[in-house]
Amino acid sequence: MSSKRLVCLCNHVSAEEILKILRAGALNTSDVQKFTQAGTGCTRCVREIEDIVEKYFANREKDPQLRIEFK
Ligand code: FES
Repeated sequence: MSSKRLVCLCNHVSAEEILKILRAGALNTSDVQKFTQAGTGCTRCVREIEDIVEKYFANREKDPQLRIEFK
């Protein structure tokens, strides 16, 4: 799977952008949605975003100190 592939067609968000925000400290799908707007249109892609988040954290511990502050 190419990380440049668009996951969210409504808001033009790629898997690469979702991974980037996870590396920056997003802790869950809700964080990804707030920061990238992915999954906030038709919501068809939310399950795929959840899969990416789940796979990302499968072998990692969440670090709350990395958490991004969203307004
Ligand atoms: S494809 Fe992501 S919100 Fe529509």
